[in-house]
Amino acid sequence: MTSSIGRDRQGDIYRAGTFGRRPATPTGWDDLVARARRGMTRAGFAYIAGGAGRERTMSANDDAWAQWQLVPRVLRDVSRRTTRSELFGTELAAPVLLAPVGVASMAHRRADLAAAEACAELGIPMIFSNQASVPMEECAAVMGDGPRWFQLYWSTIDELVESFLARAQKSGCQAIVVTLDTTMLGWRNRDLDLGSLPFAHGWGIAQYTSDPVFQRLAAERAKRPSSGPQPRPTPAAVRTLIDISRAHPGGFLDNLRSPIPRAAVELFLETYSRPSITWDDLAWLRERTDLPILLKGVLHPDDARRAVDAGVQGVVVSTHGGRQVDGSIGAAQALPGVVDAVDGAIKVLVDSGIRTGSDVLKAVALGADAALVGRPWVYGLAAGGPAGVRDVLHNLLAELDLTLGLTGCTSIADARDITLVRRGA
Ligand code: FNR
Repeated sequence: MTSSIGRDRQGDIYRAGTFGRRPATPTGWDDLVARARRGMTRAGFAYIAGGAGRERTMSANDDAWAQWQLVPRVLRDVSRRTTRSELFGTELAAPVLLAPVGVASMAHRRADLAAAEACAELGIPMIFSNQASVPMEECAAVMGDGPRWFQLYWSTIDELVESFLARAQKSGCQAIVVTLDTTMLGWRNRDLDLGSLPFAHGWGIAQYTSDPVFQRLAAERAKRPSSGPQPRPTPAAVRTLIDISRAHPGGFLDNLRSPIPRAAVELFLETYSRPSITWDDLAWLRERTDLPILLKGVLHPDDARRAVDAGVQGVVVSTHGGRQVDGSIGAAQALPGVVDAVDGAIKVLVDSGIRTGSDVLKAVALGADAALVGRPWVYGLAAGGPAGVRDVLHNLLAELDLTLGLTGCTSIADARDITLVRRGA
């Protein structure tokens, strides 16, 4: 099937322009971020926009994509093009997936549901976040046959990990992405300076509160006194309690009276991270799912080689959007080394700093099988709700299609052969 998504999208926008209508969602990055910022609370924007430390890795991500430059070719008949691509036997509209981003409710109340609908409509997979605001089953229910994957954070509760894996399979997820760069939260100044951690308000823990294993453990946890000294209640503490009672499934007043919602937050905070995991633990995971497993957060070629040896099906080259290690290598800088190291044995995906269709094309030309889009979809959601997230993804696919043709390619396979040079080289 050939695509004209780029010219159709452009045509629609310019035609509407003749009637005096401008695009509801800005197509440019800076305007999109500015619009999104206006749609969020201060703490919400800090959580989504922020990175670790001085945010030098966020800059490194940006710089690394900018460093690579495409060398377009001419006179190659690009009238018929397709951005279609394939991953693990599923055909995709483009080599693009929605990165797992937690706490999307900070951007809009439809949160993950809006993203799920947009992905299904556009034919790109959504990777359900372990820290989603909506349980995976509810997102799957609005996606029809739309492709979806599940991202796992390895909790200290084995039984809970097993339950998440089983639910993901039942929800039609086609792969498991294990995120390995967040065994602890990075040192994030914007959140620290506001004293703001969304999970402490009960936000972004919907996969847990909807889980039968977690529900049982939270009810048991509610019978134990909470740890540490109990400070005197303040107005902020009351607001937090209201947030927790609102976010927890069930009726607000019942939740306010029950100790379980607070116990659920405490249990989550006590168990969500498992810094002790090693390569040896992957065998345990392998035994518990038949789905392809991808390791997210791989940057070193030696880790990529170990991933091949460990028998997983892919890696995601990622800095977690610069939210974990300040001063790390940019993802686009790390990508060629990882591609070389795996030498085609497993899939290589990439994220961190992908903002445009041209960035996706660079990822493909550098040897990636697909790229994950993170902050752009959340900003789209904050800027324009469900229509905003759809616009951002639609625009990215349109730009990918046009840039594909304008570099002289008619398919993603062609794009793998695009010549890239490094700025200044
Ligand atoms: C993330 N990311 C993330 N990753 C993951 O595996 N599970 C998660 O729950 C989250 N949550 C999350 C929240 C927020 C607010 C952000 C910005 C990111 C990381 C995400 O999957 C991806 O790696 C980055 O978003 C890529 O960087 P950019 O392109 O968004 O800058």
